[in-house]
Amino acid sequence: MSSFSGSASVLIEALPYIQRFNGKIVVIKYGGSVLSSDGESLETFAADVALIHSVGMKPVVVHGGGPQIDRIATALGVESRFVDGLRVTGASMLEAVQMGLLGLVNPEIVRAINRHGDFASGVSGVDGSSVLVRPKDERLGFVGEVVSVDPSLLGGMVDDGVIPVVASIAVDSAGQLYNVNADTLASSVAAALGAEKLIYLSNVPGVLRDPQNPATLINQIRVGEIAALIESGIIGGGMIPKVTAARDAVEGGVARVHMIDGRVPHSLLLELLTDRGVGTMFSGD
Ligand SMILES: Nc1ncnc2c1ncn2[C@@H]1O[C@H](COP(=O)(O)OP(=O)(O)OP(=O)(O)O)[C@@H](O)[C@H]1O
Ligand SMILES: [Mg+2]
Repeated sequence: MSSFSGSASVLIEALPYIQRFNGKIVVIKYGGSVLSSDGESLETFAADVALIHSVGMKPVVVHGGGPQIDRIATALGVESRFVDGLRVTGASMLEAVQMGLLGLVNPEIVRAINRHGDFASGVSGVDGSSVLVRPKDERLGFVGEVVSVDPSLLGGMVDDGVIPVVASIAVDSAGQLYNVNADTLASSVAAALGAEKLIYLSNVPGVLRDPQNPATLINQIRVGEIAALIESGIIGGGMIPKVTAARDAVEGGVARVHMIDGRVPHSLLLELLTDRGVGTMFSGD
């Protein structure tokens, strides 16, 4: 095949996907784990987001910042501890979370997307009091469990052609700030906005049967299987809130929930615009 017809066939393959997702909200969770894996993946991710926006989709980016928060916590002399994949967040850790997410990661993603046009604006669940939380578990300190998402601010941004880049910080009804696991926030935002699709980008190919062996990728998980996968110890650490959030999204009406490898250049485009869906797909029972 000549390179012309090769390029043309790639574009034609994308056509039905562009049509199907035209005007539809796609929530993309970008892991802090991917951001810290190398310098290039953010640039290709940002180009992909700009491209899908430019062909008529409505992307909403939610991001984490695990490694970046760890770095700041260490500099502040605060120890990072996790329970079932969730960061124990005392008052000093909450400051490290705010600095990591709002100081380092959020503007980095906004900047990268806006190299392709002034599309993106940074917000958090605190803006417009969009994400209301309550304490999840007293052992975790200021870790929020989502009570409700008011879609008006994010929905309005999207309708105005803006790509919201959302940091996972929220407030309770008394105005206290909380750290929210970004996977959980992405799931709640996707359900509240009626997203067509939710895609998690992390530093693994998807859910693995053996976390040490990328060849053990599980292509499809029914939400009813998730509890047993956690119970058996196959799913651990940061993957626990991720699969739990994926289940909540499916049960909250998001028809398509996928987990893909954010380290692979243009994995987002491959997932959205080609037949070569990679990673783990979640489905109802
Ligand atoms: N069965 C499993 N399959 C794949 N990864 C797993 C599994 N069990 C545990 N993990 C771990 O989960 C990690 C991904 O979650 P993690 O919270 O670290 O990243 P992230 O959510 O992408 O980033 P951030 O939390 O900064 O947003 C993987 O790097 C891996 O170490
Ligand atoms: Mg995580």
